[in-house]
Amino acid sequence: MKELLEKILADALETLKTADNAEALENARLKFLGKKGELTAVLRGMGALSAEERPIIGNIANEVRQKIEKSIADATEKLSRKELEHRLERERLDVTLPGKKADIGKKHPLTAVLDELCDIFTGMGFSIATGPEVELDYYNFEALNIPKEHPARDTQDTFYISDNVVLRTQTSGMQIRFMEHTKPPIRMIAPGRVYRSDAVDATHSPVFHQIEGLVVDKGITMGDLKGTLEVFAKRLYGEDIKVRFRPHHFPFTEPSAEMDITCFKCGGKGCPMCKGEGFIEILGCGMVHPKVLKTCGIDPEVYSGFAFGLGLERIAMRRYKIDDMRLLFENDIRFLSQF
Ligand code: DAH
Repeated sequence: MKELLEKILADALETLKTADNAEALENARLKFLGKKGELTAVLRGMGALSAEERPIIGNIANEVRQKIEKSIADATEKLSRKELEHRLERERLDVTLPGKKADIGKKHPLTAVLDELCDIFTGMGFSIATGPEVELDYYNFEALNIPKEHPARDTQDTFYISDNVVLRTQTSGMQIRFMEHTKPPIRMIAPGRVYRSDAVDATHSPVFHQIEGLVVDKGITMGDLKGTLEVFAKRLYGEDIKVRFRPHHFPFTEPSAEMDITCFKCGGKGCPMCKGEGFIEILGCGMVHPKVLKTCGIDPEVYSGFAFGLGLERIAMRRYKIDDMRLLFENDIRFLSQF
């Protein structure tokens, strides 16, 4: 039996020498150590041995088992090291290859200008509010002192979802929405998309963007309005710019005005850009109408405020010298990548 065990060991070592993959190793393990393996068969036969022989053969059998196990473990380790080497060889990186260049986009001119305006106003302590584009007639018109038959509605014809729901024509409704849930002091701007049923041309689009501004507190005057908007204009267009306020009419402000800035092309002398005026209109503004404050539950005897609204497209077009609004919405990469 001893010879048999030695033969098994010799066979096993020989087999393992040539086992050079995982499958061959597993087969060898089964062949020698498995339940139906050769060594197991010998151990099963040990019952037939005499009491003196049994421990001796048992010892030898154990040694043989241990040697085979160790030899399988060694072979397994050798194999995995070899596999790792192979993989490293195969997957070698050439770090000298030039990398792939990622195309990095940039902000749309409207977004760039919007970000700039938001920076200027948040720098002055304004917070930013947003609201729905599909708006109740109440917020878009009624609460802004523009009742059903008011002629101001004619200049802001829009798309009606139903009798009482419209695509908003102006961001001014955000004044109402904001005042409904926020007590003064209020300093907010509300940028967003607005709609009007205008035909598309170089200066009109049925979809465009506005920024609304609202300040309400005790003791706010026209002086605050002028000072704030002048600072804003200078931050946006440079310290040399001059502003001018012209009386105007908006139903939700009283008094109302339009603010012009000196033409940045001619500096105020008059040129084709400003149609000889020397000034260019950039926004509408005014002191919040007492009726509007009252509608929002704010006592006009205690509080006053000013509001303003400006068109983003116009500002972007001036900033980038774009002469046709349609270009801003066509999303032609060749055009947009210039800015
Ligand atoms: N909502 C006005 C428009 O679309 C612009 C405007 C004018 C907004 C005066 C205001 C304001 O807040 O005070 O023509």
